Amino acid sequence: MNILVLGSGGREHALVWRLAADPDVTGLIAAPGNPGMAALARCVPVDLTDPQAVLDLARRERVDLTVVGPEAPLALGLGAVFRQAGAAILGPGPLGAALESSKVQAKHFMAQYGIPTARFAVCDELDAALAEVARHDFASPLVIKADGLAGGKGVVIAEDRASAEAAVRAAMVDRTFGEAGARLVIEECLSGPEVSAFYLCDGYRAVPLSTAQDHKRIFDADRGPNTGGMGAFSPSPLATPDMLAFVRSRIVEPVLRGMREAGEPYVGFLYVSLMLTDDGPKVIEFNVRFGDPEAQVVLPRLEGRFAQALRAAAEGRLAGVSLQESADRCVGVVVASRGYPASSESGRPIEGLDAAAAEGTLVFHAGTAADNGRIVTAGGRVLTIVGRAASFEAAMQTAYRGVDRVRFDGMQFRRDIGQKAIAAESGAEIR
Ligand SMILES: Nc1ncnc2c1ncn2[C@@H]1O[C@H](COP(=O)(O)OP(=O)(O)O)[C@@H](O)[C@H]1O
Ligand SMILES: [Mg+2]
Repeated sequence: MNILVLGSGGREHALVWRLAADPDVTGLIAAPGNPGMAALARCVPVDLTDPQAVLDLARRERVDLTVVGPEAPLALGLGAVFRQAGAAILGPGPLGAALESSKVQAKHFMAQYGIPTARFAVCDELDAALAEVARHDFASPLVIKADGLAGGKGVVIAEDRASAEAAVRAAMVDRTFGEAGARLVIEECLSGPEVSAFYLCDGYRAVPLSTAQDHKRIFDADRGPNTGGMGAFSPSPLATPDMLAFVRSRIVEPVLRGMREAGEPYVGFLYVSLMLTDDGPKVIEFNVRFGDPEAQVVLPRLEGRFAQALRAAAEGRLAGVSLQESADRCVGVVVASRGYPASSESGRPIEGLDAAAAEGTLVFHAGTAADNGRIVTAGGRVLTIVGRAASFEAAMQTAYRGVDRVRFDGMQFRRDIGQKAIAAESGAEIR
């Protein structure tokens, strides 16, 4: 099987790494890829915002399956362009992509299908949004979300009226997030631990791909501003069989049914972001692709014929397909550049990548570039270093032994990725 993986981050490196080890894969292309992927796949430049150019690449390279890493090409209609041309692609069409690219559409969809989520209002005028803020008593915070894709920066949890009003004005008047902030979802603030659950969907069926917990804040103990994710572990000890049965029947099956009723069976990865509230699991959001950094900790635990399963999903043939999870635990630590998430540096030489791997870690590249035979930094999140072991303690130790071998000017990372899993497994009270 000849597979094309689209994207250039740590998630895509993990996909390429998993596919490279698969006996059914004979050819592997990454577009545009990164220096980490270049060791495993042929990297080919492509403009991911140009669906026709991506289709031309898939045709020219005679690929059997295209796997989409990031959400943006899907929101631009890549799934429909491929399917109209009869080319196999793992990723939804525009209606499915809108489950992620429009929080308004996602909330309407959840309301229509009775999918548990935070109570919400949709506001497309400033006055309506301010009136919504005025109605709230701030005994609990209010959550203000820009409708469109905002690179993980479009959500404000406002503790008081002044910050809620400021968030509304920033999005709707100042257009901090551009058109993404033209409409807002204003919703109740839920509380509880956050867990992500991943599924592989063929339009009719969903094969579970395990669970994970991300760490969004930049600093230890979940302090500081939100980032794209500073580390993750898999599986989530909070994902019990009962909880997963609930997620399947109340969330995943209704998504599949709803998308079929809308005329666009949902094909691709479905990433359900959940908050485990006292009232049960509720959807925080859907993502229509794999997570980053979650892919880096989930994929090393997935056994079985992954490439065949991906192709079967793209072709509506998942009946009878399952992928086993190994008993391993994975802990992945993101190593970021100085200034991230507000800004980031580039071009700093990275030392110790081989030494980190020699500690038994998996080293996934995210923001790296090749520069005269050296690997240098190229963006905010630079690497994800993953430890895989029989226990979370051992996986965490391995991951950090690897992190401690890597050096570049300005590197920053959290020291506590994996601790929540250890606490949860030991039955301790966790947030
Ligand atoms: N209703 C809510 N109650 C509490 N926290 C929330 C709520 N909605 C979002 N959050 C927090 O904000 C983060 C980002 O929100 P999310 O909807 O996932 O948007 P995005 O990932 O597109 O930025 C979530 O991971 C969660 O921590
Ligand atoms: Mg999110």
